Order: sequence, then structure tokens, then C-alpha cells
Amino acid sequence: MNNMTLLSELNPSIRKRIPIGESDFKNLIEGNNYYVDKSLLIKEIIEDDSLVILLPRPRRFGKTLNMTMLKYFFEASDEACSRLFLGLAIEKHPEIMKYCGMYPVIYLTLKILNILNGKTLFQDFKISLLNCIIIILSL
Ligand SMILES: Nc1ncnc2c1ncn2[C@@H]1O[C@H](COP(=O)(O)OP(=O)(O)OP(=O)(O)O)[C@@H](O)[C@H]1O
Ligand SMILES: [Mg+2]
Repeated sequence: MNNMTLLSELNPSIRKRIPIGESDFKNLIEGNNYYVDKSLLIKEIIEDDSLVILLPRPRRFGKTLNMTMLKYFFEASDEACSRLFLGLAIEKHPEIMKYCGMYPVIYLTLKILNILNGKTLFQDFKISLLNCIIIILSL
């Protein structure tokens, strides 16, 4: 049992929350939510020499949370990337942590697209792709 767990139990006002509907890794970690540590997925991905990795899972299985975790891990940013991974299993692997915050990341989600509206679907898809291209060009 770590200090945070003990404090949460003694003082209900800082009790950790269940992250219902929170699929953004940074928000989840910074928001004092419970997190089932799946950070070793990062190690698996790095050590997998496949050209493309497909991670199909049923609904609500944590796909988006894992994808945003990968994004925050690899993405070069002004903030220290390792801060988000303090205390997680991946932190014990310096050979993996050396890649933290080292890369430009292109993150494309189709979740925002309204598939029920054929008129705007293609237009919105183009905008999503254009945003990616803008990121690539600004690197
Ligand atoms: N490792 C985890 N620890 C704690 N909560 C988690 C974990 N993984 C997922 N969750 C929670 O489960 C819910 C579903 O996660 P997420 O949105 O990432 O799943 P999904 O597979 O992308 O779902 P969908 O199929 O609807 O897109 C969210 O509330 C998220 O916070
Ligand atoms: Mg999702």
C-alpha cells in the first residue's frame, strides 16, 4: 500500500475517483483517478518489430486511454514526459524511459466524425487529415 492510498483512506476528501468516461491519459493521471497500470504496453510496442500494430479490443476496453498514453509517452513537449509515468511499472525500465518525450507524434482519431451525416462526414474527415498534415509540415 503506498502513501497516496493510505492518505485517501484516511481523508475521504482526497479519495481517488473512478475515471468514468475519461479516455485521456494525462487527464486521468493528473485528476487523481484510479488507474489500472497498463504502462508496460509501451515496452511491448517498442520491442515489437512489426511494421504496423493493430490493437483490436471490444468496446470500453481502454483502447483510447492506451493510445493517448502512447501519445503522451513518445511526444516531444515542453513538459517533462516522465512526470506522467511516476510510480508506474514502465518507470522501472530505463532502457524504455529513454524514449520518453523524444518524438513528434501524429494522432488521428475518427471518433469526432458524425457517421450519420453523409454530407459532413467527408468534409470533417478531410479537416482531420489536414490537421495531421499541418502538424507534419510544422515539424
Ligand atoms: N487502465 C485503466 N485504468 C482505469 N480506468 C480505465 C483503464 N482503461 C480504461 N479505463 C476506463 O474505461 C473507460 C473506457 O476507456 P476507453 O474510452 O479508453 O475505452 P475504449 O476501448 O476506447 O472505448 P470505446 O470502444 O467506446 O472507444 C474510461 O472511463 C476509462 O477511464
Ligand atoms: Mg475509444
